[in-house]
Amino acid sequence: MDAIVLLKDDHKTVEKLFKEFEGAGERAYKKKRDLVDQIIEELTVHAHIEEQIFYPAAREGVPATSDHILESVEEHHVVVWMLSELVELDPQDERFDAKVTVLIENVRHHVKEEEEEWFPEVREAMGRKRLQELGEEMEKARPAAPRNPLALSSARS
Ligand SMILES: [Fe+2]
Ligand SMILES: [Fe+2]
Repeated sequence: MDAIVLLKDDHKTVEKLFKEFEGAGERAYKKKRDLVDQIIEELTVHAHIEEQIFYPAAREGVPATSDHILESVEEHHVVVWMLSELVELDPQDERFDAKVTVLIENVRHHVKEEEEEWFPEVREAMGRKRLQELGEEMEKARPAAPRNPLALSSARS
């Protein structure tokens, strides 16, 4: 599978979970806990394969994207810390919904920048064959990816 198609599919999966969260009732604590656990796992695995495989390859293949990629890593940094807080936070805590709302805003902004500002540049410069190799590599890396957000390289520094 093409690397960019794979990453966009992940974005869609996460957006679906966001919408479900937004539609969940105020007191649907169990449902919201369950959705947030899924969001944490999806985003952690996704960020891992981007950071370990896609971002370095894009930076090497398309040096003009470097600034975008550095900014993307900083955005991951903020998001993974929010995820790590949500691992422990009780859905009945008054800060829970607010934290998830800000997480969703951050991720939507980040995804929009990836999809609109620099993925197209990478697609154009890299070509289908290279993107397919990267897609395969990312697919293979998924099962062993960490599920703990603080294990991501962007969690550090
Ligand atoms: Fe990303
Ligand atoms: Fe992404």
